[in-house]
Amino acid sequence: MPLGCGELISVSLEFYQQKAKSIELLVDRVIDSTRRISLDLRPGILDCGIVAAVQWQAKEFSDRTGIICRVSCDNDEISLDADLAIAIFRVFQETLTNISKHANASRIQVKLVELEGLVLLEVIDNGCGITEIDMKKQDSFGIRGMRERCLQLKGNFHISGESEKGTRVTILIPTGDSECHSEQSYDLNNKFKEFSQSESVRKRKQISLL
Ligand SMILES: Nc1ncnc2c1ncn2[C@@H]1O[C@H](COP(=O)(O)OP(=O)(O)OP(=O)(O)O)[C@@H](O)[C@H]1O
Ligand SMILES: [Mg+2]
Repeated sequence: MPLGCGELISVSLEFYQQKAKSIELLVDRVIDSTRRISLDLRPGILDCGIVAAVQWQAKEFSDRTGIICRVSCDNDEISLDADLAIAIFRVFQETLTNISKHANASRIQVKLVELEGLVLLEVIDNGCGITEIDMKKQDSFGIRGMRERCLQLKGNFHISGESEKGTRVTILIPTGDSECHSEQSYDLNNKFKEFSQSESVRKRKQISLL
């Protein structure tokens, strides 16, 4: 039997109500995705500076995983280009993710310092220790990604492990402030060794987050 006028109106009303609901859902999802993408591109915490962002991330990680994470810095703030700050923050996050996934560590020591136009981030855990074989895994992208980020910024990425003692990740990147960073006069590898051992790095301010 054909539908009456009233029934027709109610069927099309229902149809348009459902359409409106699915459009609303779609818009919500788009807003969500946009928020996530912009967070991925530039974590908001970086507005507070790289030192505060690293400290915040360490505390958040520690609270979430129960792994003790101490951060030491020379300065309350290190002024960096946005790209550099994002790269350092992303490397730090991937390093922490790796520790929670693979290291079985109970303690992490993080160092973030700037000296002579270079910024150094070092993350040491007391876990099982990465091996040479681990570093070459074909289907793993974290370490490859961190190395590429550092290279893009004319920096250096280094990872090493000792069985049952732990893993050390070190990155050293020019901040772009110093004249000595012209291609000819600048030997990053030597600087890397010097920097890691330098007395001024050891005399850092201890900031306990725990
Ligand atoms: N802190 C660590 N302690 C012990 N082993 C580690 C540590 N970090 C990384 N590894 C080892 O190195 C491997 C490669 O790490 P990488 O971050 O490249 O890949 P992944 O974490 O396995 O995967 P993804 O591509 O999701 O990052 C890991 O699979 C793990 O075996
Ligand atoms: Mg990884």
